[in-house]
Amino acid sequence: MNIKKLKEAEIKFGNPLYVYDLSIIENQFKELKNGFQNIKNFKINFAAKSLSNISILKFMKRLGTGLDTVSIEEVKIGLICGFNNEDITFTPNGVSFNEIEEAYNLKVKINLDSLESIKDFSKKFSSYPISIRVNPNILSGGNKNVSVGHDESKFGIPQDYLDEIAEMDNKKNIIIEGIHIHTGSDIVELDNFQEAFKKIFLVAKKFKNVKILNFGGGLKIPYFKGDSKTNILSLSNSIKKLINDNSFVIENNLKIILEPGKFLVGESGYFLTKVNYVKKTPNKLFIQLNSGFNHFIRPTFYDSFHEIINITNPNDKKYEYDVVGYICEQDNFALKRKISNVRKGDILCFKNAGAYCSSMSSNYNSRIKPAEVCIWENKLIKIKEREDLNNILNGQIDIF
Ligand code: LLP
Repeated sequence: MNIKKLKEAEIKFGNPLYVYDLSIIENQFKELKNGFQNIKNFKINFAAKSLSNISILKFMKRLGTGLDTVSIEEVKIGLICGFNNEDITFTPNGVSFNEIEEAYNLKVKINLDSLESIKDFSKKFSSYPISIRVNPNILSGGNKNVSVGHDESKFGIPQDYLDEIAEMDNKKNIIIEGIHIHTGSDIVELDNFQEAFKKIFLVAKKFKNVKILNFGGGLKIPYFKGDSKTNILSLSNSIKKLINDNSFVIENNLKIILEPGKFLVGESGYFLTKVNYVKKTPNKLFIQLNSGFNHFIRPTFYDSFHEIINITNPNDKKYEYDVVGYICEQDNFALKRKISNVRKGDILCFKNAGAYCSSMSSNYNSRIKPAEVCIWENKLIKIKEREDLNNILNGQIDIF
């Protein structure tokens, strides 16, 4: 982490500010690519929802990723950024059929996750090959909000319905060309991945036109010193083993896809914000920040841990603080956190703010969203303007 560069960014662009170091994204991409180099026909689809700024998406395209998208808006932005249709996979959940039809018209890859939507699709577009997202009935992921592969989850097609879909495929009422499973985020246990991977191969055997096996995302990055992370080599080895055990993969030259978000961009991001006050109460010291869960919701929403560094005064005596936001609700960034002596006006930096931070921000409390910059070849380049009041008022209709 380059504190000098972050300070420079704050002085130049103000705060709150998101900063992304593109060299970290590039290194993560290379680690993944190298880890999977012994797997033929391997492709990385970046999960656009984790960080959807167009300059980041274009950077991903330069690196050579495809795109995992979940809304028609993400699909359209991907196309605007120059991704080829067949490199964009649209994996919606519970969207209207109109949206699926729009994706069909844009000729992107479609990955459906309900029997209901598949039946509708087969009525109109039976000759357009699609993938299916299967619910593997596996509980995995860092917390319950990001665990989506269990049997009570709204995601994925229950395995009980697969025979019916295979029957439709046999009768050419639908063409299933891909099998997809995504069980959650922040998965570290290899067993959980392996269990899901095995299911993908089992399901694939039911369908004769399969060309794509999509293993989803969910790779864990460390959030603090000593925190666990997904072991990329073990992951690729376990997929390699399954490929070796299932000759149809090589025989039919199947495409193998991973769709990480956090792994590629999580560690590249820094969120910088100023200390408005250090508020004392008889038993606590609150750091009151020039931000709130409107800009950075992970700690409030998931109780996520993000390392916090006082970049103005990094090496002083540490004190214990509750770090809170300015939203008129309980928006805690961190409780009882030891940070190097914090004074009014200091700039704090939240680490690992690349994934699901800016992309989950909102205008709650009528607050404007931060500017965003990236560090590329040691230069600071703005990639998003700070919003102003017009962003809040635009589109509102004054009827009085
Ligand atoms: N594929 C699908 C179908 C997904 O739903 C997701 C994430 C991914 C791939 C990428 O997962 P990743 O590699 O980033 O873990 N907002 C939460 C994470 C929600 C993930 C939603 N789906 C967080 O901040 O922890």
